[in-house]
Amino acid sequence: MQIRLQKFLSEAGIASRRKAEILIMAGKVEVNGKIVTELGTKIDTEKDVVYYNHKKVEKKQKLIYIMLHKPEGYVTTVKDQFQRPTVLDLLKTVKERVYPVGRLDYDTSGLLLLTNDGALTYRLTHPKHNIEKTYEAKLFGTPSEADILQFRKGVLIDGKKTQPAKLEILEKGEKYCTVRIIIQEGRNRQVRKMCQAIKHPVAQLKRVGTGTLYLKNLEKGKYRYLTEKEIQYLKKL
Ligand code: URA
Repeated sequence: MQIRLQKFLSEAGIASRRKAEILIMAGKVEVNGKIVTELGTKIDTEKDVVYYNHKKVEKKQKLIYIMLHKPEGYVTTVKDQFQRPTVLDLLKTVKERVYPVGRLDYDTSGLLLLTNDGALTYRLTHPKHNIEKTYEAKLFGTPSEADILQFRKGVLIDGKKTQPAKLEILEKGEKYCTVRIIIQEGRNRQVRKMCQAIKHPVAQLKRVGTGTLYLKNLEKGKYRYLTEKEIQYLKKL
């Protein structure tokens, strides 16, 4: 079968399709003994031999899909320059090489999907897909009706307005309140920046849902495999 090199690499679980493109352009991928940097390159998966980082890339492995309840204090990158724990440290019993779908900050807890299905990762993290992500946050103070309206209209962060977002107050306290926030984009530290912008900074942040997938009673630090129905749901998004 003829497929594009970056698709082959992502399906083989090497990296997301976008990351695979970067690897190709960086000269890290060889086809039949020659470095290929051309992104349009197609390969024959039956005949051509692909090497990444001088290791043979094997065709498709078993695809697995995991939901992890990430604790605070873990990075979602596969390696950390400061040697901090990574989410992969929590998946020691998983033998396949999986990658996080998108990211959660070091100090954010909650729902993180991980898979070796590069094609799905590519689709789910592509900005045009805009999958709803639901967060529960503890904020300093209590946002006003005007703040809630501001969320609905979009909040200016890093010089660019966000898409409309939902903010709902779940519980009010003396110093803090608990809120539910639903956003569609995945900009860097978006929820924290949006709350900062309305002057109710985040004290604690947890992602509880991605689309219709929810953490429910999955314990912090634990993971589970997605059901076939959940996998099909993500593929259809
Ligand atoms: N928004 C944030 O600010 N942090 C996250 O980890 C996720 C969304």
